[in-house]
Amino acid sequence: MRRPIAFSIALRGVLVGGAILSTGVAWTDDGVTLDDKGRLTAETVKKLKNPVVFDKASLDRGRILYLRECTECHGPDGRSQVDVIADATDLTEPKLWYSGTSDGEIFRSIRDGAGDAMPPYSDKIEKAEDMWHLVNYIRSLWPEPIRPKLQETETN
Ligand code: HEC
Repeated sequence: MRRPIAFSIALRGVLVGGAILSTGVAWTDDGVTLDDKGRLTAETVKKLKNPVVFDKASLDRGRILYLRECTECHGPDGRSQVDVIADATDLTEPKLWYSGTSDGEIFRSIRDGAGDAMPPYSDKIEKAEDMWHLVNYIRSLWPEPIRPKLQETETN
């Protein structure tokens, strides 16, 4: 919880997608807006900031979540080649992605789903923090030159 404000903005965005829609009044205050299907609007996605440092602890947490939720389609290494049940994106080749490669855009792909076959995770992954750990983990699968640099120490 290093930057609690950013957390709470993203968290509300996550919560309103689920059963807690009735608390929907508050999130507009933070500039988080949803479309009529409860998905983050493009404007909100642009504003989203990843509050979780790209460090080993985050990647460890992201990996656990990835193995639990994502391998079934994207495969254990993210390449979507072995034992996968859908024509899922190779997560190690961001050049070929359709839905955007910024932190906010990856967050949206996970939260709201992507294309026709990637399911939304707004109900299954309840904490925005966990979704950011997943965003970090996904980026750690990228080729070395475009991968974020691992932070040794926690800043801020
Ligand atoms: C039921 C199968 C399935 C599961 C489970 C699944 N995905 Fe996907 N995912 C897909 C498919 C299919 C696509 C391609 C969607 C499209 O653009 O047509 C995709 C696309 C994506 C994209 C967007 C890539 C782009 O083109 O921009 C990201 C990021 C992603 N998945 C991450 C994840 C993460 C993280 C998890 C686990 C939390 C996950 N996926 C779980 C099937 C799945």
